[in-house]
Amino acid sequence: MMRTHSSKRAYRGPMQVDVVIVGAGAAGLMCAATAGYRGRRVLVLDHARRAGQKILMSGGGRCNFTNLNSTPNQFLSANLRFCISALKRYPPQAFLELVERHGIEHVEKAAGQLFCAGKAKEIVDMLLTECEWAGVEVRLKTPVEAIEATDDGYRVTTHDDTITTESLVIATGGLSIPTMGATPFGYEVARQFGIEILPTRAGLVPFTLHPDLKERLAPLAGISVPVAATAGGMRFEEPMLFTHRGLSGPAMLQISSFWQPGEPLVIDLLPGRDAAADLAERRADRPQGTVLQYLDEHLPRRLSRVLCDWHGWSRPLQEYSREDLAAVAERLHCWTVHPAGTEGYRTAEVTLGGVDTRALSSQTMEAQGQPGLFFIGEVVDVTGHLGGHNFQWAWASGVAAGQAV
Ligand code: FDA
Repeated sequence: MMRTHSSKRAYRGPMQVDVVIVGAGAAGLMCAATAGYRGRRVLVLDHARRAGQKILMSGGGRCNFTNLNSTPNQFLSANLRFCISALKRYPPQAFLELVERHGIEHVEKAAGQLFCAGKAKEIVDMLLTECEWAGVEVRLKTPVEAIEATDDGYRVTTHDDTITTESLVIATGGLSIPTMGATPFGYEVARQFGIEILPTRAGLVPFTLHPDLKERLAPLAGISVPVAATAGGMRFEEPMLFTHRGLSGPAMLQISSFWQPGEPLVIDLLPGRDAAADLAERRADRPQGTVLQYLDEHLPRRLSRVLCDWHGWSRPLQEYSREDLAAVAERLHCWTVHPAGTEGYRTAEVTLGGVDTRALSSQTMEAQGQPGLFFIGEVVDVTGHLGGHNFQWAWASGVAAGQAV
């Protein structure tokens, strides 16, 4: 029998456990199983109706559960070295072995990105099974009302119970997708114990556009093109998707984590080509040819048309000087967009910033000045690039704390 409680609980009255974990998400469940296998009595509390809701919705329902090429270089943090230890001790291969032990079929989509061949639910079921085997109790629909430090640990008050524990792990994630149960709870607990929170903002999130550009690009909704996007000193070569609201797709999600409001975003619509040289060659071979004909060979037809109408590229190539062709190429390779903003936490995959890593041990995730208090997963100021890195951080930081609580 699974010890997952969604309605009536098994215990009445004060309860003593070794470890309370708040948050039955990716990091919390991983930490719980790890600690449970060490013989620790573990209780996981979550206010949601289901465990691992973000896992269920991740990767388009198929969960990009890790990235075989994950290294500390794929992470953002005010302290880039913080994540190294945990990631090294629990590499992607370790999670893959767990997935394979549970017989979960998987596929590699882009290089290194591993997804379930079936449904993301298999990953949640696997984590809950691991928790069950490790003797962990997972209690859902249980909001935490108060946390206090005691002489030998912590007292956690829920709506119907008081639990005392030696170790308290905060695994409540970030602020993205509030409709899925995201709350600032983890940041509030950190503040309660004097731990600094670095400014948070939405990451891996689509861009919104100002009305004139939005209107101009409206006919392109649904089109995906490979681009190179540059902002904040980073460049990503991935597909970009035009949507009814703005610009999305992997290239935009990736670069959004590095973009700062007010900054321009530079998009190369023909990465890997030299449009000026291509057009000059074409002008010599086919003077009557047009920019549209050239673009139609490299871009979706609807996009070439919008670009040519927008910039007035209608004359035969023989009427373009070298400077004119350079100007066309500049617009294609360096399309400078000033986003209105991003879609924010409503659709963001992650929250940048969070619990300041300077307050935590990189070996154990324990708060330096607050023995027995741990922070893991997305609530910490460690954020991965798109492609399975964020789950890898959740697993690795969960295991690091699970071995220490
Ligand atoms: P997570 O959010 O998983 O869990 C936090 C838990 O805490 C939740 O169960 C929540 O209910 C609970 N909680 C919150 N407040 C609480 C409170 N006050 N009291 C009690 N419980 C509380 N990453 C990746 O690597 N590959 C992917 O394919 C995707 N895809 C993806 C798609 C979408 C749409 C989103 C939004 C995100 C992704 N991600 C992703 C990111 C990934 O989901 C995220 O980084 C991890 O889930 C973070 O794991 P955590 O355990 O830290 O938080």
